[in-house]
Order: sequence, then C-alpha cells, then structure tokens
Amino acid sequence: MFDLFEKFDGTPKTDSEQSPPQSDSSENYSYNYSQNSSRQKTFVLSVGGSVFFSDKLRAPEIAKFCESINELKREGFEFVIVVGGGRVARVYQAGAKALGANNFGLDEVAIQITRANALLFTHIIDNAWKEVLVDPKKAENVLLLGKTPVYGGTTPGQTTDSVAAIIAEMMGAEFINLSNVDGIYSADPNKEPNAKMYSELSHVKMVSLLKAQASKPGGHSFVDAHAAEILKRSKIKSSFVLGTDLENFKNCVRGLEFKGTVVRTESNSNPLSTNENEE
Ligand code: UTP
Repeated sequence: MFDLFEKFDGTPKTDSEQSPPQSDSSENYSYNYSQNSSRQKTFVLSVGGSVFFSDKLRAPEIAKFCESINELKREGFEFVIVVGGGRVARVYQAGAKALGANNFGLDEVAIQITRANALLFTHIIDNAWKEVLVDPKKAENVLLLGKTPVYGGTTPGQTTDSVAAIIAEMMGAEFINLSNVDGIYSADPNKEPNAKMYSELSHVKMVSLLKAQASKPGGHSFVDAHAAEILKRSKIKSSFVLGTDLENFKNCVRGLEFKGTVVRTESNSNPLSTNENEE
C-alpha cells in the first residue's frame, strides 16, 4: 500500500522524509492514532468555502493562510486540511439543478468544486500531499510520510465539516472550524445584531443550539448537523474562529488566548456510559 501510495504522490523519493517509518506496515493500519506519542498536537481544519471562495477566489488570502500553516508546522504542529466549496459550488449546483440533476447529482457537482478549491492549497503548503485525498483513512499515513493531507468533499449527503469531523475522530485530533463568523452565536449574527457569542460551550449545548437555529426559516448552521453529532459522540475539542484573522487562528493553535468559541466536554465520567446527555 505504501508503494502504491508513493507512486500516487508522483514525487521522487529523494530523502528520508519520503520514507514511511520502518515500524509501519502496509497491511496494518493502526487506528490507535491518539496514542502516537511522537507527534505534537494535530489539528483537522474545516476551512469554510465562505473564507476564500465567496464573492471571488481570494488567492492572496489563501497564500497568507497557508504561510501561517507553514509557520505553525515549523513549530511542530501538524494539520489535516479540509476545504469547502463556497459560492462557486452553489453556482454549479444551481446550474446542475437547472439541467435536471437530483440531490445526489447536486452533491456530486459540489464535491468536485471543493476538490478543485482544495487543490489550490497543495501548491503553497510546505510538503503538502500533491493530490487531494478522498479517503479519510489515508490521512494518518500521509502524515507519517511527513506530508500534509488536503481534502475536499468525500461523500454525498454531508458537507466538508463532516469530512473534517470524521478525520478528527479517527485520529484523536482537535477540530478547528474556520468561517466568515468569529464564533458560535446564540442566533445568526448577520440577522440578529444582539446575538451573543459564546466563548465556551459543551457538546450537548452546541447540538441543541444547532437544532434550535436550524429549525428557524432561513437559519444558518455554524457546522453541519452530522459533523456536530460526530464531535459530540467523541467529545472532540473543537474551536470556531474567523478564518481571515490569522494571528487569532495561530493563537488558537498555540493554546494562547484567542477570540472564538471552544466546544469541549470533560470526559471524567464512565467511558462505558451510553448516556448521551452526559456532560
Ligand atoms: P461545503 O462543505 O462547502 O458546505 O460543501 P457549505 O455548508 O455549503 O459550506 P460554506 O457555507 O460554503 O462554508 C458544499 C456542498 O458540497 C456537497 C454538499 O452539497 C455541500 O452543501 N458536499 C460536500 C457533499 O455532498 N459531500 C461532502 O463530503 C462535502
């Protein structure tokens, strides 16, 4: 599998960085990711399409964002990057709808746009895996090769938030959502100026807030519902920050004070408990 994987990259093996660790086996995916003690903190980023692909494709901002990622990588942090579709995806979905596509077809066309968006990031992130990945299970092996995995969408019926959440769950990594909003609010801040931003929430409260907001006509979700359930079931520490404030984003990764919402639930209770409401 590793041999195949290296051919897939297309990059000549020139140094030890390209070699998979000796202890790793192609037949033996280890799902015990969170216990990999050699790795510093790993973050799975859900980069909302709204940040760089809204009114236009913001190449200079993508470059600055990726330079921040490179800086953090030099400090020892690792990332899996999942990129959303933005306005272009919605334009393509509208076109596909006009041409008779069903919902599955609309998801399929948007997934292709998320992958095209994601491909842009591979050009500027140091040591990025040079193809947009489609299988969440590959993320760990790509990181073990010293590369940064980049994803777009993977599966119809969800959004890229779910791709990022499932990878974070698999790897025992933290989840960071970057969007055009600076945190999670009590209501859509674009519609209700008095909405209050939460600096911290439990997973249970995040999910109930999401349900309450989604049930309002025209309600905007700060994360997709499937992703929220994954984050909740595995109590994945999650941060919601403004994607364009890079100093703030870097503070979030470095564990310093930052503006945004942290979703976390202390897991000091019985690990075998199935009580979903437990906090
Ligand atoms: P996004 O993740 O960009 O969703 O996927 P979004 O909520 O519209 O993102 P923002 O608001 O721009 O940040 C765009 C669309 O791509 C399809 C879905 O149709 C989704 O709405 N998609 C994406 C999938 O079907 N599966 C995926 O895994 C990812």
